[in-house]
Amino acid sequence: MPDTASDPASETVPGSALGDDLQARAAALLRSTANDLKRNDRDAEADLSLAPGAFAEYTSGRRPVTWELIERAARVWPVNERDLLPVRDDAPTGVRVCRAKESAATSRVIERGGGPYYEYRDTAMSRLSSYRPEWIRMLRTVDDDAPDNPAVEWNKGHLLYQFTYFVGPVNYYHEWEGVRHCVPMTTGDSVWGLPFGPHSFAARSDAEPAYILALTYGGDLTGDAQREIAALGTDAARDLALPSGADGALLASFLRARAMSAEELARRSGLSPDRVHTLCTGAGRAEWSELAALAPALGVPVRELLAPATRAHDGVSVRKGAGVRRWTYPDARRPAYRIAELAGDPLHPHTSALEVEVLTREEGGPPLTTHQHQYAYVLGEAPVTASWTRDGRSHTERLEPGDSAYAVPGVPLSLAAPEGGPAPRLLLLRIRGAVTPDVRFALGAMAADGIDRYVAEDRLWY
Ligand SMILES: [Fe+2]
Repeated sequence: MPDTASDPASETVPGSALGDDLQARAAALLRSTANDLKRNDRDAEADLSLAPGAFAEYTSGRRPVTWELIERAARVWPVNERDLLPVRDDAPTGVRVCRAKESAATSRVIERGGGPYYEYRDTAMSRLSSYRPEWIRMLRTVDDDAPDNPAVEWNKGHLLYQFTYFVGPVNYYHEWEGVRHCVPMTTGDSVWGLPFGPHSFAARSDAEPAYILALTYGGDLTGDAQREIAALGTDAARDLALPSGADGALLASFLRARAMSAEELARRSGLSPDRVHTLCTGAGRAEWSELAALAPALGVPVRELLAPATRAHDGVSVRKGAGVRRWTYPDARRPAYRIAELAGDPLHPHTSALEVEVLTREEGGPPLTTHQHQYAYVLGEAPVTASWTRDGRSHTERLEPGDSAYAVPGVPLSLAAPEGGPAPRLLLLRIRGAVTPDVRFALGAMAADGIDRYVAEDRLWY
């Protein structure tokens, strides 16, 4: 219930306005929130102690939304400040480039165990995606591959997922459940790691470059999910956790969610009650024919009954460059790019780590379009020409070795080798954002003008 009875009605809420770039989307969020709470303009004005007509001024963008208005709304309505705050769009052209010299300007030496251990440099990041990609040079050199080499300084592990691409003679150290491992890596090798596994890196030689591209990202573990679980607490988080590959836990979870007995599910699906019990306990895995009977009996898609299983061993999936799968894209008849598949894991079906060799010299050639956010780093010695279009405008940038870029989902990014040079090589890490397949299916199921209103609600809903 509103608790602003003591606040005098004011024509506007004083204080600092959000930036101009945020105003239109802040106005849409305010309207959308009032709609969700079934408040018309007069009700909203009463709740927020605004003068008649003021709410429409805010939601139409004629009057700037202020921090104080957001704070007041979060106090009187059951919403959070962040529900009313839009994200900043720092990639309005669709691609954000970070030059090698901008990266070099962020150089800082990280000490471990009282001495210099890493040189860190930022590469391309955007507020639109959860990447925290670093270029990291190893400053510590070791002369063996022993996992317990005392020269190696370990971290405690971190929340963010880490995809790592190796350049030069680098030892990768990782620990899982108390056991330490060392994997000697070289250029083209890669690894994908689960959260919170302690790890370290060291050079095997100081005679040649030894560095990594440590592409950490939160994916859907950070943001709303983490904030929700932080409020729910540790016990709730343990209850919510589903083991890798546990189809039975998923099925049992749906039965609880629908308050349905195994006998009822058996009746609906044609399976025996014993068989449903067995599947729920994880003692057996359902056959395809059983899944095809269980899914409609629960009213869910079959994919909701299939648990992904990680392929990580000791917390990591290592992929050696010498053995990776390679192919040409878009196809063998028009081989614009040669692709190499780097480390990944079935737990993240919407993450793709690729090494791309650019074969085409045609600017604006076949695009590397995807539903994912894209991060690119120019490896090797050859520059590359990147071109794309957004909102009807064409853009072209020449990317030099050591430059990196971020591209928003859906941007048709074409890469081309400049005339006469060697084939450029890039590292691509593509990740899904907050737009899960469920959200994409929901967008696809909306009524005709639904997507426009979802993007920027500007009207009362009734
Ligand atoms: Fe790390």
